[in-house]
Formats: sequence, C-alpha cells, structure tokens
Amino acid sequence: MKLLLTGGAGYIGSHTCIELLNLDIDVVVIDNLSNSSYHSLERVQSITDKNITFIEGDVRDKELLRSIFRQGDIDGVIHFAGLKAVGESNEIPLQYYDNNLNSTITLLQIMEEYDCRNFIFSSSATVYGNPEKLPITEDFPLSVTNPYGRTKLMNEDILRDFYKVKNNWNIVLLRYFNPVGAHPSGLIGEDPNGIPNNLLPYITQVAVGKLGKLNIFGDDYDTPDGTGIRDYIHVVDLAKGHAAALQKLKIGSGLNIFNLGTGRGYSVLEMVDTFSKVNNLKIDYQIVSRREGDIASCYADPSKANKELNWKAIYGLEDICRDAWNWQSNNPNGYKKTR
Ligand code: NAD
Ligand code: UD1
Repeated sequence: MKLLLTGGAGYIGSHTCIELLNLDIDVVVIDNLSNSSYHSLERVQSITDKNITFIEGDVRDKELLRSIFRQGDIDGVIHFAGLKAVGESNEIPLQYYDNNLNSTITLLQIMEEYDCRNFIFSSSATVYGNPEKLPITEDFPLSVTNPYGRTKLMNEDILRDFYKVKNNWNIVLLRYFNPVGAHPSGLIGEDPNGIPNNLLPYITQVAVGKLGKLNIFGDDYDTPDGTGIRDYIHVVDLAKGHAAALQKLKIGSGLNIFNLGTGRGYSVLEMVDTFSKVNNLKIDYQIVSRREGDIASCYADPSKANKELNWKAIYGLEDICRDAWNWQSNNPNGYKKTR
C-alpha cells in the first residue's frame, strides 16, 4: 500500500509516518514546510530505518499533485496539511480559508482525475463548539467560533456534500481532541513557531527556561479546581488511530467519523502537577483572566473508534509529560539547533 501524506513533515504527520512505515506502508509526503522542517522526516527515517519520498511544495499546486499521482499508484491520502493557530486565524482569515479549503478542494479534484478514492481528513474537536453535555459523541451538534474552526467544519461539509454524489469513495473524518507529547525516542515532537499557544508546549518551554512562567487562563470555570479540562491524547496514540482508520478504507465503508481522544479529561492544574512530579521540575505559574473563546470542559467519548477501529489510547498523562519533556530537553530549540 502507498499513501500520500499532505503536511506529513508536521507534528502529527511525522508521528503518523512512523506508524505507517512500521506497517510496511510506502509513504509519500508533500509539505511546503511553512510550519515544519525536513529534519523531522530525516529523523523518522532514522527511527524506522525506512525511506520516505518527500516532495516540497504546496497542496494547492495542481500540476505538482498531478505529477505525484502520475508517478505512482497512490492508494489513498491522509490530509494533514493546514494552518492551525486559532488566534492567528482571526488576524489573517483569508489565508486560513485559502490554505485550508483550497488544499482540500484541489486534492479531491486531482484524486478524482487519477481515480484515487480513499481519503482521511484531520478534523478537530473544535467542531463541537461548547458542548451541552459530556462526554462528546460523534453525533453531537456542530458549531464553531473562529476562522480556524470554521475551516475544519467547512472541510467536513465539503466532504459530506462530495460523498453524496461520490458514494464509491471512502472518507474518514478524524476529530482529534488535544494532541500532546512526543515520540518516546525524543527525536521528533512538537516544534511551534514563536510563543506556543497550547498548554503543554508552553509548560515545556517554561521548564527549559525559554519562558518565564505559565499563565493559567482562569480558575473560575465550573470544574473541580476551577481550571479548564481537556482530553489530552498522546501523539503516538493519535498516530496509531490513523493506521487503525485504514481498515475503513480497505473494506470500502463510505464516510465515517471518529473521535480520537482518551475519554478522560484533566485540568490545567492537574497537567502542571503531573508534569512537575514526573520530571521533578517546578513550573512557575500565575492565574490570569480567561482566554477569549475557551470553554470549561471538553472530552471525548471514544467508544465508536474503540469498537469499530479496534483502537484505544493507551498512554496516560504521566507518559505524555515524560515524553514531552524528553523531546523538549533534548531539543531546546526544536529542529533548528539540537544539543
Ligand atoms: P503542523 O503545523 O505541525 O502540520 C501541518 C503541516 O502542513 C506543516 O508541516 C505545514 O508545513 C504543512 N502545510 C500547511 N499548509 C500547507 C500547504 N498548503 N501545502 C503543503 N503543506 C502545508 O500541525 P499538526 O499539529 O501536525 O496538525 C495537522 C493537522 O491536524 C492540521 O490540519 C490541524 O489543523 C489538525 N489538528 C491539529 C490539532 C493539534 O492540536 N495539533 C488538533 C486538531 C486538529
Ligand atoms: C486550542 C484551540 C482549539 C484547537 C486546540 C488544539 C483555542 C481557543 N482553541 O484548544 O481550537 O483545536 O487548541 O490545537 O485556542 N491554557 C492555559 N495557559 C496557556 C495555554 C492554555 O491556561 O498558556 C489552558 C486553556 O485555557 C485550556 C487548556 O489550557 O483550558 C488547554 O489549552 P490549549 O492547549 O490551548 O488547547 P484548547 O484550548 O483545548
């Protein structure tokens, strides 16, 4: 089997490469490196001792895509490529819509030309908005509040509309909860540009001395300790979820949607405590006001994926904190300069 991974040099894509290569799947990556480095793929190759075909370029480039499909029998596409920062999406919405929507549309058009009908899409729990109850199942109502989230929901809608007239396709929408952690080797991990927006990369950068102290966004939520609760999923578990989703493509089962989460929520303070204990480090923090757009609690009901994909997250919060720190402490400047 040969798969094309768009955005495969990025955080989730690079971890997924490992799982696919370990299954002897041939991997072709297209990435414009706008938010990643080729070093991630070099390291994936050294971890797995397997080769990846890498094409540097933009998924919206039709001719480039044609040349990839022309060259070889691509059996399916996992579409990771996209811009993903919520705050930035409010600043430059057109770039988000252009990048995140046109990449999908272009891909689908070229896949049709080459009769490739297997597609896995990186969606997000952000499509559930502020859920009325918990845990979240796949049939919950969908709503979004920012351009990034809207591109995810619009992509889902495009794929649902497309499938209505192309029901010989196999499409899997994977709704990720909060991907965190790093490969246990410490060789690949999350390498955010500038100051991280997300909790765990912020904590690891405080721990490594790049940032002063963590700002905890609110301790007055309706949660046991007042801080926000999220479903943090180890990126290796998430990557394995993609490998598991391939079954749906193989048996030809139409359009399927899965939550990829652990089913368990942890608060910000629980994350800080666990990180400190597991790594024997002190994390300075202060409570500040809530971040606009944040919700109190969000966690998945992953039972559909457990049952239909025979997939379950196995790593716990301690593994997450250990592996995130292993990556950060060994690569204080991410892929740019390593010790
Ligand atoms: P990432 O930024 O590390 O990876 C995305 C990759 O896509 C990058 O390597 C980037 O260079 C590339 N890219 C972007 N636009 C491109 C284009 N037009 N052509 C070619 N390459 C392009 O992000 P990630 O965390 O690995 O996320 C992967 C996907 O999962 C994204 O679609 C993201 O929205 C989605 N997602 C991520 C999270 C998360 O917290 N990380 C949560 C839910 C969903
Ligand atoms: C954010 C995005 C969401 C995206 C997800 C995964 C927002 C509003 N939402 O979700 O769309 O799908 O990332 O990429 O940006 N926190 C702090 N201090 C920090 C950072 C975070 O206290 O410096 C808290 C937050 O308030 C939240 C929790 O930590 O309670 C997790 O935050 P974060 O990692 O940013 O993820 P989400 O807010 O769930």
